[in-house]
Amino acid sequence: MNADETINKVVFHIAIFASGTGTNTQNIIDHFRNSPKAKIVLIVSNNPSSGVLQIAKKENISYLVTERKKFYEDGYLAELKEFKIDLIVLAGFLWKIPSILTKNYSNKIINIHPALLPKFGGKGMYGNFVHEAVITNKETENGITIHYIDEIYDHGKIIFQIKCKVDESDTAETLSKKIHALEHEHYPIIIETLIKS
Ligand code: GRF
Repeated sequence: MNADETINKVVFHIAIFASGTGTNTQNIIDHFRNSPKAKIVLIVSNNPSSGVLQIAKKENISYLVTERKKFYEDGYLAELKEFKIDLIVLAGFLWKIPSILTKNYSNKIINIHPALLPKFGGKGMYGNFVHEAVITNKETENGITIHYIDEIYDHGKIIFQIKCKVDESDTAETLSKKIHALEHEHYPIIIETLIKS
């Protein structure tokens, strides 16, 4: 096995799926930039004008923009196999993952949710909708959940949760900042724990 194959074999290939700004995507790229163990090799987005695709171009990482019909027919499985993807990291990806992917990447797709699942989860509960619901409900705490993806929205086995206080003075905006800080602090570390050499 030549050096190149050895490198390919050793390095754990990660694909990030995202639809929005991409602060988590940038944070994960930064974390693994010089990692000998893992490499972000592909960025997938359903939104051609997303910030996350700008990040892919800036970081010179391969990317693909999903087309709904194909995504729900074949899940871009051939493309993911071509990149030898070992782990799919969802970082604000708004489309439900099709069963062709949950079956072929069982326990290899993870997601981060800006609340303490099962609270404030399910279809339509993403981004600011979650923060608004937490504030409206006058919750005194919230947090983040990192979990495996299965066939049901925000339902897979929980890997990690951490809480933060919600103050009376908090708004959806200030809460969002607290949540993003927790996400940036913990998501890369949890991904590290899932890397199998
Ligand atoms: C994060 O808040 C995450 O909890 C949710 O989508 C958001 C993505 O934010 N799943 P960003 O695009 O990474 O800034």
